[in-house]
Amino acid sequence: MATGVTANARADMIDRYAVVGNPIAHSLSPKIHHLFAEQAQQQISYEAIELPIDKFSARIRELQAQGMKGLNVTVPFKQQAWEICDARAPHAETAGAVNTLVFKQEGEILGDNTDGAGLVRDLTINHHSLIRHRKILILGAGGATRGVLEPLLALEPKSLTIVNRTLEKAEDLVRIFQSFGEISSCGYDDLGWQKYDLIINATAAGLNNEIPPLVDTVLGSDSICYDMMYSLKEPTAFVLWAQTRGAARVFDGLGMLVEQAAESFFIWRGVRVETAAIIADLRQV
Ligand code: ATR
Repeated sequence: MATGVTANARADMIDRYAVVGNPIAHSLSPKIHHLFAEQAQQQISYEAIELPIDKFSARIRELQAQGMKGLNVTVPFKQQAWEICDARAPHAETAGAVNTLVFKQEGEILGDNTDGAGLVRDLTINHHSLIRHRKILILGAGGATRGVLEPLLALEPKSLTIVNRTLEKAEDLVRIFQSFGEISSCGYDDLGWQKYDLIINATAAGLNNEIPPLVDTVLGSDSICYDMMYSLKEPTAFVLWAQTRGAARVFDGLGMLVEQAAESFFIWRGVRVETAAIIADLRQV
């Protein structure tokens, strides 16, 4: 009995976090954050919570009232998460999408977006890829693209082109981000007459095992392809596309997933974790 009370008291003291999304069952985030906490020798709890599509803000308030310290937010809630924040980090403000919430003691909700930092760290540190003075093509103009544009442009690529099926969405993003660097938009039919150094797939096509309608003449002999989606079992559809068309180097988004999580962990816990061994471990599973 006495032991139970002590255990409960201890459980109350552990800071609680979660990732919310829909669907969320296969999220690796709980595993990743538990590995971070172990490495940082901190005790936290971190769970995956599926939220009903139409009850996002009410459920977030409930989780806040239960004493949670923070949340990661994933598809399809990143824009709604932006809306409920009382204050946002500057790049999250521009992106219009938030993937990290911090519940302050006074009841304020702070929002950040660590996707861009996660992508940039994976590309530049883990894969030693240069962005400065390179020509970048980004496929898709949804939330995934919004989150990474400002951090990519901050590294001064020669140009960044957004290609999307629905051209207006790409044009909207160009308007929002044009003050941050050399950015333009086009449709898939406009591609093919020039090559890109780095091609990033930020579309949702992979969810249906599809690939965007991309001509392979965008690939040069030194081109790098990066899929923001990842797969532990077999290569993603875009990774396969790039490998079979002779891209110089091809990566999926597992590293980005771990790096964006590490940025969130840093925001919440103030500790920078080592990610390389964790990425390698997850790849072995
Ligand atoms: P997310 O928030 O994950 O980015 P989203 O806002 O629904 O999701 O955006 C999905 C993006 O993937 C869009 O750019 C979409 O193109 P459209 O705007 O033209 O719909 C793109 N997309 C989805 N399926 C695709 C496919 N099969 N081929 C090419 N682009 C696709």
